[in-house]
Amino acid sequence: LEVRFDGQVAIVTGAGGGLGRSHAIGLAARGAKVLVVDVGADVDEVVDGINASGGEALGSSTDVTDFGAVHTAVDAVFRHWGRVDVLVNNAGILRDKSFAKMDMADFQKVMDVHLMGSVHFTKAVWGIMRQQNYGRIVMTSSSSGLYGNYGQSNYGSAKAAMLGLMNTLHLEGEKYDIRVNMLMPTAATNMTRGLLTPADEQLLTPESITPGVLFLASPEAPSRVILSAGAGSFARVIVLETAGIYLPESQRTPEGIAEAFHKISDPTSAVSVATAFAQIEKLVTLTRTSIGR
Ligand SMILES: NC(=O)c1ccc[n+]([C@@H]2O[C@H](COP(=O)([O-])OP(=O)(O)OC[C@H]3O[C@@H](n4cnc5c(N)ncnc54)[C@H](O)[C@@H]3O)[C@@H](O)[C@H]2O)c1
Repeated sequence: LEVRFDGQVAIVTGAGGGLGRSHAIGLAARGAKVLVVDVGADVDEVVDGINASGGEALGSSTDVTDFGAVHTAVDAVFRHWGRVDVLVNNAGILRDKSFAKMDMADFQKVMDVHLMGSVHFTKAVWGIMRQQNYGRIVMTSSSSGLYGNYGQSNYGSAKAAMLGLMNTLHLEGEKYDIRVNMLMPTAATNMTRGLLTPADEQLLTPESITPGVLFLASPEAPSRVILSAGAGSFARVIVLETAGIYLPESQRTPEGIAEAFHKISDPTSAVSVATAFAQIEKLVTLTRTSIGR
């Protein structure tokens, strides 16, 4: 089945360059009207390129950290094109420092752009998507958030927080056919300049990642999926909880837990847990079956 976005409206933040630019061009090439948002890079090159090749795009220099401005931009798009089907939260910055040397202002700034920027645009489109009973939202996370990276406590915190945002919005959006997914990309862009070997840079193009975003934003998209993507390779991150063990009161001590820790950690029969309540159910069921009531 061909993935198309004809008649759909998409917003891509941080789309003046790097990954966002590639996603905007990719969405437009498959029929979406695209709002290209970027505060730091020139959006005209991207907008003009899309319009020159038969697509339809508008530019906006909205700063994702300014909720008022984000609302105004989304309202304007909605008035102009009548819908908002796809949101790709992609805008980002880095302020790397070891935690010992990190200024709180740099921590806050990175949280504001990555986390609150994503929250702002998502909040501004949420009512529209609920009303039209359709929406596809892609968060741009990072391996720094899910796995950690030296010098990126601020960035990693913001990127991991998106996981919590996605999980809950997936549940709250379900009945309105709003699907929320997360991309974990790795690419040669301004952000990674000087960190990669020239040979890897050639493979790690933004264009090699965009098909993953188009899939996550498509009508047939899954929901609550974390897609790892780079250099044309794709993988899925799956969060699992081990089956666990019940500890009777006599062993329910720090020492008992230390002794049982290898069993608690045994990944055999680990499961994906659907909601916070499902965790309660899982643990209580384990206890009930273990004690026989
Ligand atoms: N490049 C990678 O390897 C990599 C890895 C993991 C995650 N990411 C994420 O992918 C996204 C895109 O990054 P990229 O690599 O293309 O870098 P990039 O620097 O080329 O693109 C980020 C864009 O966001 C814009 N931006 C920054 N602050 C903004 C704001 N307040 N409002 C609006 N726009 C703003 C910048 O001007 C820039 O054009 C980021 O969220 C980044 O964290 C990138």
